[in-house]
Amino acid sequence: MLQLEPMVHLAPLNPALALELRRATVSDVPKIGAIIKYWAQKGRMLERSPELLNRSIDEFLLLENAAGELAGCVGLHRMADDLAEVRGLAIHPDFQGKGLGRWLVMGAERLGRDWGLQRLFAWTYEQAFFEKSGFNRIPREVPTLPEEIHAECTRCQFQTNCQEIAMLKVLEPPRLVVS
Ligand SMILES: CC(C)(COP(=O)(O)OP(=O)(O)OC[C@H]1O[C@@H](n2cnc3c(N)ncnc32)[C@H](O)[C@@H]1OP(=O)(O)O)[C@@H](O)C(=O)NCCC(=O)NCCS
Repeated sequence: MLQLEPMVHLAPLNPALALELRRATVSDVPKIGAIIKYWAQKGRMLERSPELLNRSIDEFLLLENAAGELAGCVGLHRMADDLAEVRGLAIHPDFQGKGLGRWLVMGAERLGRDWGLQRLFAWTYEQAFFEKSGFNRIPREVPTLPEEIHAECTRCQFQTNCQEIAMLKVLEPPRLVVS
């Protein structure tokens, strides 16, 4: 059989969680905003206003249950022909440690591959988590990355004392294999 590899294999989520992945819509803005605000108030990520989320809602994927409760979300913001930033990754505290964060990053990666991207970028305090998803720490200033990676710093309270870590994942191009 001919197939393209590497594929991003999204292993089935724990069926007991009964979660579904879908694209976000404007009606999801309040609940995505709430979960991001929760973590932003703990200093773990940058808050996103309803206006900002409304403008970028088509960048978001979310995981929710049949009751419409949000387990987690992730945004993928395109920055160049070959590059996008993983943004707004947030898991509801009741759902942490169940593999959902990694699963959402893989979902974003699959979306990025569909877009033809070769690199995914992220700012984070969670270096170990991103390393487990195949990202590597890089310097804060990299000539091969667009200046836009710093665009959101202007609305961050820590812009002059930022401790966030820059992470990059290079996506291998798919190759045709026979199995
Ligand atoms: C960071 C976050 C996304 C992780 O999501 P999660 O669903 O709890 O993580 P997962 O269960 O998918 O973990 C995947 C792996 O990463 C590890 N991991 C997760 N969080 C970790 C942490 N803080 N430190 C070290 N390892 C971590 C897990 O142990 C697991 O490793 P394993 O496969 O060897 O067992 C989630 O805790 C969160 O939303 N945090 C607050 C917001 C935030 O920091 N977002 C990132 C901004 S870019």
